[in-house]
Amino acid sequence: MNLKPESVDVTMKSIVILISGLGSNLRALLEADLPCRIAAVISNRVDAPGLEIAKQHGITTRIVAHHSHPDRESFDSELALCIDDYRPDLIVLAGFMRILTPQFVARYQNKLINIHPSLLPAYSGLNTHARALRDGVKIHGCTVHFVTSDVDHGPIIIQAAVSVLVDDTPATLAARVLHQEHRIFPQAIRWLCNDDIRLNAGGKVLLRRLEQPGCPLISPEME
Ligand code: GAR
Repeated sequence: MNLKPESVDVTMKSIVILISGLGSNLRALLEADLPCRIAAVISNRVDAPGLEIAKQHGITTRIVAHHSHPDRESFDSELALCIDDYRPDLIVLAGFMRILTPQFVARYQNKLINIHPSLLPAYSGLNTHARALRDGVKIHGCTVHFVTSDVDHGPIIIQAAVSVLVDDTPATLAARVLHQEHRIFPQAIRWLCNDDIRLNAGGKVLLRRLEQPGCPLISPEME
């Protein structure tokens, strides 16, 4: 019998994904056929529904429970040990709802990315959709960015915008934004895996390929 050893692409980058909740972004990443190996999914909550999604895709899951740690430093130390088991090239926060210590962020400088449900730097923090509605903005969206110790203010990789509609509730707006999250997050990771992104001297993200102007979003539409 002529058995071929399973081929492993040693040049392929490896990523670890951190979650806290539902895992719809995780699902989008797992279904995106990314040019990388997803080494593990780590959750800080034992009951995160996203863990089941990872298992269905045959991905290793680990739990680092934040409530069994007295402070952020000790939680982040255990989290780092767990991540380092997989020696990932990239750590992806996909709905990971913990603020990370500056030491943790520094350890993974330029290797840590996050998705946030607003057009940063507007609406950093929580309850982004309700706050956008309260302010009456006409355009809202989502952002993928590098994580720095300045929470939600790291270099921006990609953003998507949606119109805010008059009868929107936080839930309807969140659903439209989430749909865009599922589109831009895989794109950002694909660029990173293909080494298409670098930071310039001013700490801003540059894309290797030529950027196109894209289409403007005017909301509400003009007559
Ligand atoms: C997403 O909307 C993500 O942008 C947000 O949590 C949700 C997770 O959904 N992340 C943050 O607010 C981080 N500050 P998911 O578990 O279905 O991917």
